[in-house]
Amino acid sequence: MQAHSRNFRKSGLTIAFVPTMGFLHEGHLSLMRLGRSLADCLVVSIFVNPTQFGPGEDFESYPRNTEQDRKKVKKEGADILFLPDAAELYPEGFETFVRLDNLPNKLCGLSRPQHFQGVTTIVAKLFNLVQPNVAIFGKKDYQQWIIIRRMVRDLNMDIEVVGGPIVREPDGLAMSSRNSYLEKDQRSKALCLYHALSAGSKAVTAGERNSDTIKQEVIRSISAHEGVNIEYVVLCDPETLENVNQINRPVLMALAVKVGKTRLIDNMLLTPP
Ligand code: PAF
Repeated sequence: MQAHSRNFRKSGLTIAFVPTMGFLHEGHLSLMRLGRSLADCLVVSIFVNPTQFGPGEDFESYPRNTEQDRKKVKKEGADILFLPDAAELYPEGFETFVRLDNLPNKLCGLSRPQHFQGVTTIVAKLFNLVQPNVAIFGKKDYQQWIIIRRMVRDLNMDIEVVGGPIVREPDGLAMSSRNSYLEKDQRSKALCLYHALSAGSKAVTAGERNSDTIKQEVIRSISAHEGVNIEYVVLCDPETLENVNQINRPVLMALAVKVGKTRLIDNMLLTPP
């Protein structure tokens, strides 16, 4: 991979990089298209990274379909599909990790304490292998996007980090590889995330400025669904992820909810008119 990237760069070509864990859907493909539009070459990686899964999480069962993914990546015109394996990326004796002090201790990091260290470590490694000029991450994983941007800034990595908009199903469900875990009735219950975010956004447009009022309404509406459990509802600053009480500027509303055993996240920027 490094040799290919060196060659691209020697020829004066710029590289866009879309890291993924595979089981590709329209959300990933939109990031690839964005990447294509931002650089000369497009590199896509697929690697289900063991270090970002905690004990009891879904590393083993995470959906995988490399053959389908290969076709999709080819159709998007990627120059390279990079499929490293775990033994190569984490050789015996591996002991170096990239960890941020503060941003991971919020939102998803509270229930997944090792997750972001696994993400930043693998992304730093992939950046060293792919040597991209620009890297594209989906904003559905908003906290991940913010953390990667902070890592790149703090470690002076010469990479532009771009966030791609959330891609939704026609009824509003944010696309996610984990949606494939949902049974039919769970799939319709999962819509409560999007409905809650839309209600929050409408409330702000209508003049509501109190975060707690919006939060309480969201908790009430989501809790009405049997088998749906809220992990967090947060209204926070979109850069620092610190809680916000008064909505007098754009505020990120972020949710994590378990529908049965499936953990889903979603978010929306609430912007007062
Ligand atoms: O968002 C993902 O799919 C993963 O967290 C990433 C960025 C590919 C790192 O494993």
